[in-house]
Amino acid sequence: MNVLDVLKDDHATVERLFSNIMATSSRDKSRREQLFHSLKEAVIKHSHAEEKIFYAPLRDKQPAHDMIEHGLDEHHSVEKLLQKMDNIPADSDDWIDTLENIHMKIKDHVEEEEGEIFPKAQQLLGDSELDQMTDRFLQTKEKEGPIS
Ligand SMILES: [Fe+2]
Repeated sequence: MNVLDVLKDDHATVERLFSNIMATSSRDKSRREQLFHSLKEAVIKHSHAEEKIFYAPLRDKQPAHDMIEHGLDEHHSVEKLLQKMDNIPADSDDWIDTLENIHMKIKDHVEEEEGEIFPKAQQLLGDSELDQMTDRFLQTKEKEGPIS
């Protein structure tokens, strides 16, 4: 498995968490909070490790530079919205609306990564470098501290 497969697996995990949360009702406030915490943790640990291990070497390569800058902007805007969720009651419409907005942003971002950044990475980095990134990505993700 190279790092692109691992990144795709994470994307699928996040998508499953969104489905699970969407299936809850506003009466399940504590379950919502618990699932949202898992989602937030999965997204933040994934994107921080992705930035350090995968984006960093690509950002230095001119043909990928702008794509990576755009990807970083999207990571930051998603992270801001995830933090904002902490101030919204989990049984409110505002909570679901904000969650749907985050879901849409993440879906677009994943589409761009898998459709544009990953093929570009394959071309610029090649199999052996992508293979070597797998363990480093997993270890870095593991080390990302607990989120608040
Ligand atoms: Fe990403």
